[in-house]
Amino acid sequence: MAPRENFSSRLSVIVAMAGSAIGLGNIWRFPYLAGEQGGATFVFAYILATLFITLPLFLSEIIIGRRSRSNARDAMGVLAPKSRFWKNIGILAVLIPIIINSYYSVIGGWSLDYMIKSMTPGFFHASPGEVSRVFSDFISSPWEPIAMHLVFLGISVLVVARGVKTGIEKFSKIILPVLFVLVIVIAVYSISLPGAMAGVSYLFKPDFSKLTPETFAYAMGQSFYSLSVGMGAIITYGSYVRKEENIMVSSAWTGISDLVFALLAGLAIMPAVFAAGIEPGSGPGLIFQSVPYIFAEMGSGVPLLSAVISTLFFLAVVVAAMTSCVSLIEVGVAWLMERFNLRRSAACKWIFLVCGVLGVLCSLSFGPLNDLHIAGRTLFDFFDWASSNILLLLMGLLVVIFVGHVMKKADVRDEITNSGGFKGNFRLFGIFYFLVRWVCPVAVLVIFFFNFLG
Ligand code: TRP
Repeated sequence: MAPRENFSSRLSVIVAMAGSAIGLGNIWRFPYLAGEQGGATFVFAYILATLFITLPLFLSEIIIGRRSRSNARDAMGVLAPKSRFWKNIGILAVLIPIIINSYYSVIGGWSLDYMIKSMTPGFFHASPGEVSRVFSDFISSPWEPIAMHLVFLGISVLVVARGVKTGIEKFSKIILPVLFVLVIVIAVYSISLPGAMAGVSYLFKPDFSKLTPETFAYAMGQSFYSLSVGMGAIITYGSYVRKEENIMVSSAWTGISDLVFALLAGLAIMPAVFAAGIEPGSGPGLIFQSVPYIFAEMGSGVPLLSAVISTLFFLAVVVAAMTSCVSLIEVGVAWLMERFNLRRSAACKWIFLVCGVLGVLCSLSFGPLNDLHIAGRTLFDFFDWASSNILLLLMGLLVVIFVGHVMKKADVRDEITNSGGFKGNFRLFGIFYFLVRWVCPVAVLVIFFFNFLG
């Protein structure tokens, strides 16, 4: 078997991990959930969850990946070889990303479609009602979303096929800075609109009387989703991290850039939503139903301006989604390569086939398959619900239990301090270990049952 590839520098590690983290979760999911869940109280709960629960979990996944040097399916089994449970439970880490990837690339396809539509004359003359109609017509028509889903998935698979160094690294390194600048430009533009300040205070002025367990439940699910934890992605990337790397620093950078990015995306969308008088709790369609209308308003009289801003915006969404999609694909590919001794390109074909077909079914659930329900949900909703609200939390729980209670404390400390090389990490280790051992499992368990029963 070929030797495992490694990321070539600390910057590469951070860029690839941030590339995985920053995606539709930040741009599509965060603003619409914040809009539904009361704005600033949700943002507050989200920041708390990220700092105290999700970041330690993120670090735990890197520890498992780097120490085992294994794909996500087998990583915990490698570290606890005597236990059948830990040997087999890793299958979750391969199944979850396949489920997420299938519907994720459907939304990636929508974004791609909207990027192309933005360049089409006539797209911006619509009233809010018409924008909504264009959106619902689009998602319920069978062919267009399916074609876009397959194109989006196909490009992402091609990136993965080129390998860790040439594909994922290069792609992320070019694209992420571009994206950051784009979203900042749009946020500045959005805040400068008349009436936009209401949106800013909606996002940042919490009313603590509205803080409910539900707010925390959604915030934690979103926080996991956004940082890509709770399945194999970070375990897999962790296995490519070199022994000399200071993983505490890499994690902190990734976590902070993901958080900042979500807040920036919120600032790009929410003030404009308020300025345009759109209901912030419009749901998952929020960016697709409001953004074209917002941009039409912005460029009123100057259609070219609307087209340019909107095209840039959806380009940013597509690119961010793609770097995340790449990390979802990589989990399955790494496993297939090691388990069945497949070449990278062959493994990629299998992932394309499976996620392609599942995604087509998800896409059809907005149209012809609308009546097919699992647990009272359409296929798309079921995939999203089952993965974000149940499976990510379950896997996250297992990971913190594994690092906090199954691995030897000395081994965990060894990873964090690089066998004592990073003296500065010793104090932080105490805090980390306490969080992972006690705070994370209890918090995740509580929210898991809340979601499961609710
Ligand atoms: N974090 C990505 C986003 O915010 C989505 C994603 C990529 C993901 N890999 C993941 C979510 C693993 C959960 C688990 O869009």
